[in-house]
Amino acid sequence: MKQPSTEEGPLNPVFPPEALALVQKMIARYPAGRQKSAVLPVLHVAQAEWGWCSVPVMDYVASLLDIKPIEVYEVASFYTMFHLQKTGRHVMEVCRTGPCCLLGAEDLLDYLKKKLDIGIGGTSADGKFTLKTVECLAACGFAPVMQIREQYYERLSPEKLDKIMEELP
Ligand code: FES
Repeated sequence: MKQPSTEEGPLNPVFPPEALALVQKMIARYPAGRQKSAVLPVLHVAQAEWGWCSVPVMDYVASLLDIKPIEVYEVASFYTMFHLQKTGRHVMEVCRTGPCCLLGAEDLLDYLKKKLDIGIGGTSADGKFTLKTVECLAACGFAPVMQIREQYYERLSPEKLDKIMEELP
């Protein structure tokens, strides 16, 4: 299980009005007493707002949903798409499931670890990249695959990775 970071996030996070309106709409989709069903979409909004899910952010989400903080921690720590540590500007999520591994994902991960001088879950010294592994991204026909935000990068090679990394700001 992923552990929440001890690093501080925003101390008293509060959604700006537009994000709060969106969250309230999400919560209103569920009947009274079932607000916790909105935990996944609300966590997505929170991560988009603050970049990662710090303990204060998860506590804030729990207060909005009127549930215990542990219920939010459990969900956020289960799904790999939620970041419980502060990340770099770009989170490289490399698929490590069978088909991608058969086509070289592990070699690519070794390449990235060496190039960035970090381990899985680490962030490069310049704060540009965080390296993570994820399970199947449902693009096995284009393996090996990596995701950065909503963008998929397919049929990867070290050369392609170099180019992608150079082009990102
Ligand atoms: Fe990598 Fe499916 S195994 S995308």
